[in-house]
Amino acid sequence: MVFFVQFLVFSFVSAKQTNIITDQQALLALKAHITHDPSNLLATNWSTSTSVCNWIGIRSGARHHRVTFLDISSSNLTGIIPPQLGNLSFLTILGFQNNSFYGYLPDELAQLRRLKYLDFSYNNFNLQIPLWLASISLNEIKFSGTIPQSLGNLSSLQQLYLDYNQLSGSIPSSIFNISSLQLLSLYHNQLSGSFPSIFLNMPSLLYIDVGDNGLSGGLPEATFDYLP
Ligand SMILES: *[C@@H]1O[C@H](CO)[C@@H](O)[C@H](O)[C@H]1NC(C)=O
Ligand SMILES: *[C@@H]1O[C@H](CO)[C@@H](O)[C@H](O)[C@H]1NC(C)=O
Ligand SMILES: *[C@@H]1O[C@H](CO)[C@@H](O)[C@H](O)[C@H]1NC(C)=O
Ligand SMILES: *[C@@H]1O[C@H](CO)[C@@H](O)[C@H](O)[C@H]1NC(C)=O
Ligand SMILES: *[C@@H]1O[C@H](CO)[C@@H](O)[C@H](O)[C@H]1NC(C)=O
Ligand SMILES: *[C@@H]1O[C@H](CO)[C@@H](O)[C@H](O)[C@H]1NC(C)=O
Repeated sequence: MVFFVQFLVFSFVSAKQTNIITDQQALLALKAHITHDPSNLLATNWSTSTSVCNWIGIRSGARHHRVTFLDISSSNLTGIIPPQLGNLSFLTILGFQNNSFYGYLPDELAQLRRLKYLDFSYNNFNLQIPLWLASISLNEIKFSGTIPQSLGNLSSLQQLYLDYNQLSGSIPSSIFNISSLQLLSLYHNQLSGSFPSIFLNMPSLLYIDVGDNGLSGGLPEATFDYLP
């Protein structure tokens, strides 16, 4: 009986725990969703024969030995973001800028509670995938393609760059719930509708850019009254 209870407790704990293997699986899922890598950057380097901490674009923290940094910016990569990326629970920096990532931003990203810096600028998010790729990954792609409301759950976020994509729909008001946010750049997308009609009560906000979109209407009086 004692053994049985211990077994149950052990199963419960291990099901909840994530570790460096979880991180490796998440990164391998990302690698598997890269459809074009002309410089063979990840193909050879992201190999299970070495620790993920030695992979190009990856750094891990000394204390927990978990992936804290993922920066594959300006790498000529084409692909989609798999939901497994949300399993990198120690991630603080996520840099994908200046590649050709497309499709949608998965809700699972909202699980990255330690994330401080998120840069998806200069990609093709919300662009429909070319037909010849459709057979590979169609069942994983939703075309709703807006800025997900769930991003408001990134409670440590300081800088969010989504500029130069094709994101459509309205700006989710949940983003203005992130009290740590210092910078929000949504420049040059296809965002529409009006600016969220809420008072911005964000003690850290220093910079906001929603230019070059299709926003309409005015700004409610006092929108910016409570900003530093
Ligand atoms: C991967 O790239 C990193 C950084 O450039 C390098 O230190 C490492 O040796 C490379 N690993 C492999 C297996 O090529
Ligand atoms: C984008 O990436 C390309 C190719 O790697 C590079 O030549 C270019 O300088 C980068 N541009 C920016 C703005 O980072
Ligand atoms: C990206 O592609 C450009 C043009 O083909 C090349 O000059 C550059 O070195 C590539 N960048 C990387 C990081 O592989
Ligand atoms: C990682 O994420 C995926 C999709 O979000 C999930 O199905 C899977 O169970 C997760 N794996 C681990 C080890 O947490
Ligand atoms: C965001 O947070 C709310 C409230 O804590 C929760 O109900 C919701 O499931 C979260 N969404 C995601 C995608 O994590
Ligand atoms: C902002 O956060 C509060 C408290 O967690 C929540 O009740 C509210 O629904 C959130 N607002 C938005 C627009 O997400």
